[in-house]
Amino acid sequence: MTAGPARPNLQLDAKGQLRHCLTLEGLPRELLIQILDQSAGFLGVARQAVKKVPLCRGKTVANLFFETSTRTRTTFELAAKRLSADVLTLNIAASSTTKGETLLDTLRNLEAMHVDMFVVRHAESGAAHFIAQHAAPGVSVINAGDGRHAHPTQGLLDMFTIRRHKGDFAPLRVAIVGDILHSRVARSQLAALKTLGVAEVRLVAPRTLLPADPESLGARVCHDLREGVRDADVIIMLRLQRERMRGALLPSEHEYFQLFGLTEERLATAKPDAIVMHPGPINRGVEMDSQVADGPRSVILEQVSNGIAVRMAVMALCLGSQHPEQVKVKGER
Ligand code: CP
Repeated sequence: MTAGPARPNLQLDAKGQLRHCLTLEGLPRELLIQILDQSAGFLGVARQAVKKVPLCRGKTVANLFFETSTRTRTTFELAAKRLSADVLTLNIAASSTTKGETLLDTLRNLEAMHVDMFVVRHAESGAAHFIAQHAAPGVSVINAGDGRHAHPTQGLLDMFTIRRHKGDFAPLRVAIVGDILHSRVARSQLAALKTLGVAEVRLVAPRTLLPADPESLGARVCHDLREGVRDADVIIMLRLQRERMRGALLPSEHEYFQLFGLTEERLATAKPDAIVMHPGPINRGVEMDSQVADGPRSVILEQVSNGIAVRMAVMALCLGSQHPEQVKVKGER
């Protein structure tokens, strides 16, 4: 049987360059490495007296957040401003969507204002793909989180943070702990970790917070936290996504913490130089205790800082404005 024609990847243009950033699934390793390399070039911008580069001057970016956000919305806004783009962040609650205007009509109206990029967060899985399919030629779409599906820039900033601490991906054992069933972050991390070729990914969760066939995800499944973090290089804790849970998947948050909460004592079984990550927001005393969240192995706030550089790289690539040498800072990997 002969293979049919390859399905074009909506995210890439004819030359294989990033046009939209919707999911990390299907993106080639070389492109992920290119994004990580270019992100390193943007890290130094935050240390400049004037925290700006002129790469996207004249471009207009619209932030459309139909779901709440602290980190993603603000770091996208800062990233666009540091690239010298003009940014508008639509206040959805005060917009005409509340009067029944459809998503497509909202887009068409913003396109009429010559917007070059939409950054979209939406509760529906597939919302960013839908917008990309309907966007005018030359308009890019970045998925800032869609339902349970994907959060690609979170996945990228997590890979960037791991690489800055660990260097090579190949020997790493990475444990992803918590509400994997509802987590778009876990899905994006898993796709990237597999493409980047880590030695092992462990999914550590109660059975009720895993998909029906977790082994099919190509990761080792553990239902015991101590076993899951033993000898791990990287531990990624996830938030319980109460807003996406239907039915009683957990007895109580207290009991969840007793079984799956990360404490100093449980962390002791990981490698001595293991790092602890969390995409935020943290529920202290539910996913982890404060000693771990604020402890020496936590890189949680570093993830937030790195998010600006990574989002600058993704935006610049999608807008066709990447000139890494222009922003390269000596000594940055
Ligand atoms: N990590 C993350 O997506 O955080 P926010 O919901 O605050 O954007």
